[in-house]
Amino acid sequence: MEQATVSGTEPDAADSGEAIRLESVTKRFGEFTAVDAIDLSIPRGEFFSLLGPSGCGKTTTLRMLAGFEIPTEGRILLEGDPVEDVPPYRRNVNMVFQSYALFGHLDVADNVAFGLKRRKVPKDEISRRVDEALELVSLGSRAKSRPSELSGGQRQRVALARALVNRPAVLLLDEPLGALDLKLRRQMQVELKQIQREVGITFVYVTHDQEEALSMSDRVAVMSEGRIAQCGPPEEVYEHPTEEFVAGFIGISNMIEGVVDAPGSVKIGTGMRIPAPIPGDCDPGDTVQLSVRPEKIAVDDEIESGMVEMTGTVVSRIYHGVNTQITVELGQGAHLVALEQATYTASADDRWEEGMKVRLGWHPENCLVLR
Ligand SMILES: Nc1ncnc2c1ncn2[C@@H]1O[C@H](COP(=O)(O)OP(=O)(O)OP(=O)(O)O)[C@@H](O)[C@H]1O
Ligand SMILES: [Mg+2]
Repeated sequence: MEQATVSGTEPDAADSGEAIRLESVTKRFGEFTAVDAIDLSIPRGEFFSLLGPSGCGKTTTLRMLAGFEIPTEGRILLEGDPVEDVPPYRRNVNMVFQSYALFGHLDVADNVAFGLKRRKVPKDEISRRVDEALELVSLGSRAKSRPSELSGGQRQRVALARALVNRPAVLLLDEPLGALDLKLRRQMQVELKQIQREVGITFVYVTHDQEEALSMSDRVAVMSEGRIAQCGPPEEVYEHPTEEFVAGFIGISNMIEGVVDAPGSVKIGTGMRIPAPIPGDCDPGDTVQLSVRPEKIAVDDEIESGMVEMTGTVVSRIYHGVNTQITVELGQGAHLVALEQATYTASADDRWEEGMKVRLGWHPENCLVLR
């Protein structure tokens, strides 16, 4: 029989494969609003990240999903069911913390087995599932080690195995790689993503590291002051930020203030008129920010026909090996940052010096107009 749907309502969450749904979820601590009327829908199997600066409400959102905090307003549904009356231990979710929180007196296998033992799962099943989980995180050979004998990355893998062994519908990860050094962190990012693909569990991943969020996620929600500023695939939030906060938080972004001058043109402080794709809801006289990503800026002989061009003076140069970042002063306090890639013939550092006059250019469509 065909299922009846009421016009104007969404299909049943269980049918649509929705793992998580937040409806206008707000959390206040006294007068302070930590999470401000958030709406979210996360399909099953997605790697979803909450990205934002310290204090924007990421952990609070995760803790509400886990059941450690109760929303002040709004509804949370897990796999289609409202969970306001479901205590944390009855929710089909597990949380992984930055601090690992392993039991020091238990070996690796017993740490991973802990939850299953408490739930009185039969012994042979526990042993099989623990072996599987340890294989998954490449720690099969360390089952008898104590946490104190492991490196930071290995400990975090034990914490991950301990969560995965319960086969939760959703895994909540709060800055799980935050304690690791950069190189290990990058390596663990790749591993975590592979593991997530393999097990197909929905991951909600909290981080303030934009590179981490962009490289691992199917979708990213950029949070600011308790609200979701933008939510979409990594390419979308990077290439098409909808507001100044998002453009500024993700990647290096060049912002030049200007005033909409005529259709298709913005006048900046130097008096120059810059052609740019003005959104339909902007009127002449509106103040806007022009944003061009550094890698979209061509310098001197890289400039092509059809580009917007301006000249300026190099005021700083930072050598990064693979590229060199130059900051160019345009006058009237406006600056632009450009990135020059190293090539197989030249080091990125070869061409620029402070005080040099340079020409900068970009294609008008690569200039975002933000309010
Ligand atoms: N139990 C609490 N009582 C009062 N205020 C709280 C409580 N928990 C969180 N807050 C406040 O809510 C805001 C959001 O906190 P939250 O821990 O969610 O931030 P976050 O995005 O995880 O930050 P970080 O990146 O630093 O971990 C902060 O201003 C914090 O001080
Ligand atoms: Mg936090």
